Parts: sequence; structure tokens; C-alpha cells
Amino acid sequence: MRHWILLLFLTTGFVTVASGLPTGVTTALATTLPSDAEMPTDEFGQMVRKGQLIFSETGKYARAYVGNDLSCQNCHLDKGRKAGAAPLWAAYLSYPAYRAKNHHVNTFAERLQECFRFSMNGKAPPLGDPVLVALESYASWMGRNATSRLVLPERGFPEIQKPDQGISQERGKTLYVAHCASCHGLDGEGEKKSDGTVVIPPLWGMRSFNWGAGMARIDHAAAFIKANMPLGTAGTLSTQEAWDVAAFVDAHERPQDPRYSLSVENTRILYHNTPYSWYGRMVEGHVLGDQPAASLGLPLAP
Ligand code: HEC
Ligand code: HEC
Repeated sequence: MRHWILLLFLTTGFVTVASGLPTGVTTALATTLPSDAEMPTDEFGQMVRKGQLIFSETGKYARAYVGNDLSCQNCHLDKGRKAGAAPLWAAYLSYPAYRAKNHHVNTFAERLQECFRFSMNGKAPPLGDPVLVALESYASWMGRNATSRLVLPERGFPEIQKPDQGISQERGKTLYVAHCASCHGLDGEGEKKSDGTVVIPPLWGMRSFNWGAGMARIDHAAAFIKANMPLGTAGTLSTQEAWDVAAFVDAHERPQDPRYSLSVENTRILYHNTPYSWYGRMVEGHVLGDQPAASLGLPLAP
């Protein structure tokens, strides 16, 4: 009897989700996230606020570590809150965790380093760097209503079914022109104000995420797009359309994979050996990833 009372008490403010999870798993939902107005005003609160600024305008507040025009929130929407767009707080509660990408159990700080290295085409801030400390503070504060390590269905992107008709860049191109180009531009370049502020993030080219980023994998991009794009009318693309448009977006040149080793072929074997990556594949007469070494690392002045 006592157990039941305790359980009821513990689940206040939380919802038990049945589908796809082991029975009895309790999970914190996005509705329990604190609002910005609730940020503390002490030293910790200052770090939380700084973390949110870095997350929202990464090039401005963590400039030394960014090598493109993106900000964290461009992919982790709603300043890292949105379920279904790899929310930062759900990630925070899920580490340390093993990652096949680098073959070891990663701390949350190490996971943050990876998004700087790949998605931001930049440089990993060293462990203990104020940038990482601020981002950790922000993530932990957002997840504060979850009391323990839980299985969080909001984590990552919602799983996407396999496409019925394979994937097609041609179909993807037509879809891109119809549903994406109005914002992201015909050449994927995004949009900037005259003072350089990014309004719409670039999807490919030298100012976007690099070949090592999760978004450069067609399956990740398809899952993100299906759940989150077109911005404002997300959910209107069919599963097949999300795959096709992801196949098109990821069939364009972008900054080199910082793990590049010896040759494009070798780098493909080491890191892109999947049908979900066009890296090292011939597209329109050009082998993707085969580009001057100048695009390695932090290539362009902001
Ligand atoms: C170009 C898109 C993009 C940008 C920009 C980006 N990320 Fe990510 N991020 C991803 C993708 C894709 C994943 C993998 C999600 C998955 O595995 O489901 C990811 C995963 C993560 C995770 C782990 C999520 C989890 O649940 O394990 C963290 C933490 C993270 N990113 C933090 C950041 C931070 C901090 C920044 C800015 C410095 C950033 N990301 C910028 C696309 C991006
Ligand atoms: C109404 C304008 C709009 C439309 C239409 C739109 N997007 Fe976006 N997209 C955005 C904005 C703005 C962001 C950044 C979100 C943020 O910072 O909150 C974004 C982010 C992204 C990202 C992650 C960031 C990056 O640069 O890689 C991808 C991938 C993406 N969009 C793909 C697409 C695709 C594919 C379509 C068409 C199916 C599409 N978008 C349609 C406005 C739009």
C-alpha cells in the first residue's frame, strides 16, 4: 500500500506514457519545463541566462568556436525546448551515454563539444570552458522538474518510417522548390539582414553544418524535417516527401568532415559507410566531399 502512495506522489506533474516504452516508465513532459521568467537571479541564474544566449545566437556569444552561420536553436528549436527537435533538457537527462560515433561513454559536456565540431563546423570548447559550463547550466535548469534519469520520449527526433519508394533527389528538388526555397533560398543559402544577422539558416554550402554533422545524414535530416519543417506548417509533408527533400538537401557540398583522413574514399569507409550519406558519392558530375582542404576547420571569417 505504501508503495502506491509513494508512486502517486512521485508522479505528480509527470505523465506515464505507454506506447513504445517499457511498462511503468515515468516521463517528464515538455509541459513541466520552467519558463524564462522563472530563471533564478543568483550566480547560477546568470550562467543559465548566458547558456540560453549562446544557444540562441551562437556565433555572437561563442564566436571563437563557431565556423558557420548556424546557431544551436536552428536545429534544436524553441531555444532547445521543443519535443521532437532533440530538446537540450531531455538530452541532459540522458547522459552519460554510450555513442557509437566515438566509441565511448560520453558525458553531456563531451556531447556538446561534438555539436560544435560538426553541426557548427567549429572547434570544440575545452572541457570546463565557460561556454560549456553555461550551456550545461541552461540544460540542467530546463530539465530541473525531472527528478531522476528517465526514459524521455521527447528525446531526439520522432522515429520516421522507412520510405515506400526509396529516396529520390529529383523528387526532393521539386519539393524543395515548392516548400523550402521561399525561406532557405533556391541555393540553400538562407537569409541574412544587412547587418549580418542570420534570419534563416543556410542548409548547405560553406556556411552550414559540415559533413560530420548528424543533419548531413539523410535519415536524421528526414526525421527532423518531418517533425519540424516547413517552419510554421510542420507535419504537412508526407513521410516519403520528408525523405526525398532530405535526400536533396544532403546532396550538396558543405564544409569538410573534420575527421577527414587520407582521401574522400577512405573517409567514407571510416565514417560514412551508410546508404544514408552521399559523402564520397558522385552527384551532378562532382564527388561530394572532394574539395580543397581549405574548407577544413574554421574556414571563413564571420
Ligand atoms: C545543423 C543542425 C544542428 C545544429 C546547428 C546543432 N545541432 Fe545539436 N544535434 C543535431 C542533430 C541532428 C543531433 C542528433 C539528434 C539525434 O541523435 O536524435 C544533435 C544532437 C545534440 C545533442 C544530443 C541530443 C541527445 O538527445 O542525445 C546535444 C546535447 C546537442 N545536439 C547540442 C547542440 C548544441 C549545444 C548546439 C550549438 C552549439 C547544437 N547542438 C547545434 C543537429 C544540430
Ligand atoms: C517559413 C520559413 C521556412 C520554411 C518554409 C522552411 N524552413 Fe527550415 N527553417 C526555418 C527557420 C527560421 C529555421 C531555424 C529555426 C530556428 O532558429 O528556430 C529552419 C531550420 C531548418 C533546418 C535546420 C537548420 C539548418 O540550417 O540546417 C533544416 C534542415 C531545415 N530548416 C530544412 C527545411 C526544409 C527541408 C524545408 C522544406 C520542406 C524547410 N526547412 C522549410 C524556416 C523555414
